[in-house]
Amino acid sequence: MKALGIDIGGSAMKGAPVDTRTGRLLAPPHRIPIHRGLPPKDGAKVVAAIAEHFSWSGPIGVGFPGAIEGGHIRTSANLHSGFVDADGARLFGRASGCPVALINDAAAAGRAEMKFGAGRGFNGKTLLLTLGTGVGTCLAQDGVVIPLELGHFPWKNGEGAEKHVASSVKDRDGLSWKVWGGRLNAYVLELERLLWPERIIMGGGVSTEHARFFRFIRCRARLMPARFRNEAGIVGAALRGAQAG
Ligand code: BGC
Repeated sequence: MKALGIDIGGSAMKGAPVDTRTGRLLAPPHRIPIHRGLPPKDGAKVVAAIAEHFSWSGPIGVGFPGAIEGGHIRTSANLHSGFVDADGARLFGRASGCPVALINDAAAAGRAEMKFGAGRGFNGKTLLLTLGTGVGTCLAQDGVVIPLELGHFPWKNGEGAEKHVASSVKDRDGLSWKVWGGRLNAYVLELERLLWPERIIMGGGVSTEHARFFRFIRCRARLMPARFRNEAGIVGAALRGAQAG
């Protein structure tokens, strides 16, 4: 009941062994910075280095920031385009020598939060957003998590919403909490109008500072920070990893 969870983000890959019965990290996460131009074969080496750091030989779950079909990666908006249509399970499996299963990064965070975190015990419709380099989205109800790609919801000038509301945009453009919170509010209200979630859980690194921007978000749904904060992706990837092999 242990799996290594690896969360691939736009600026780093991080992983830790997880007890998949409790969601507990069994060691502090190992983080390796990456840049967005990293080609897939080098990305696979980073996955292998994380496994090696823990002398890992068991199942691995990898959360990837793109649309996933089975073991294949179908999109890669914020990482190298060479990942598109790659057999990620095979690529990372060969490099690490371990069985690997893939999952979308936001769906991984959603699984972790619904099973062990802010959504635990709640079966109603829940929207989970991860705010980071991009915007990850998934819906959950009755224990089922459905990955979505609403970070690319058409927004200003037809660009995807994540180009305006990701927390990386706040950092890049030096936006105040109020200005960025206002942008996020408009986006969240639009998603709410279409999806009618009862709860909205927000994760990603910036969720540790939720007190600074939740007050600008005036949604009807109950707004909650992810319990695992930035580690939800590792825990959820490990849950997926337990199905590898
Ligand atoms: C990707 C999603 C991912 C999100 C957060 C988006 O650009 O298309 O698959 O969940 O970023 O990383």
